[in-house]
Amino acid sequence: MLIAGNWKMNLMPHEGMMLTHEICMGISDIPSHVDILICPPFTHLAQCSLIIENNESPLLIGAQNCHDSDEGAFTGEISASMLASMGIDYVILGHSERRFLFNESNDFIARKCLTAFKAGLTPIVCIGETLEQRNKGIVHPVIQEQVLSILHHEQIVSSISAHNIVFAYEPVWAIGTGLAASPEQAEDVHAFIRLQLEEKLGDHASMIDVIYGGSVKLENAKDYFLQPNIDGALIGGASLNAESFLAIAAQA
Ligand code: 13P
Repeated sequence: MLIAGNWKMNLMPHEGMMLTHEICMGISDIPSHVDILICPPFTHLAQCSLIIENNESPLLIGAQNCHDSDEGAFTGEISASMLASMGIDYVILGHSERRFLFNESNDFIARKCLTAFKAGLTPIVCIGETLEQRNKGIVHPVIQEQVLSILHHEQIVSSISAHNIVFAYEPVWAIGTGLAASPEQAEDVHAFIRLQLEEKLGDHASMIDVIYGGSVKLENAKDYFLQPNIDGALIGGASLNAESFLAIAAQA
């Protein structure tokens, strides 16, 4: 089980440090089969990493994005190898906010995925349909296209066993809206994602965490975790408070 907090563009550095410290303090109460990950903004990563290290905490740390090139004239961008050199474990790729606000395509996200693998990071690839697509009844084809755009790269497929990959199903209409997908709606898509993974990766598909995101909170978390194909959560708003984040993790 993976419980991941995506802080997005929230918290000043001192607040992020405090939150990291609080999570490190509370993590010992969480069962050991649950991996806990925070994804602070780039500017906070070094300080948050240091707090984790000083506490000898099993807390994992990830970034919220990286570029698809390893270096070069890309003003304002951060490469996967820069993140890896700081001891970062994970990187979120293709979050719907990046797909829609920054026009990121499936292809671009797949290239980022390859660069992340080369640097030794584990990518968390976000996928999910819009409300319009759900209303049109095309959830599965949309999800299939997003998953296969990653898995049709042979190099990605061959890197998965060494570096691992996580898929996060985040229906766009459920993000930050309080309109969470029902556990049954989420499980339906997760089972479909697992099928795609099995077709491409065989037995290894069962090793890959497929986590749910979109208005996860303490009140609904357990119902997701009871579903057979939901392996954790990617949490936005409720990850900004140690108490609520850890309480959700305790349900996993
Ligand atoms: P919320 O939990 O705030 O809906 O955000 C979900 C999300 O986008 C996590 O990546």
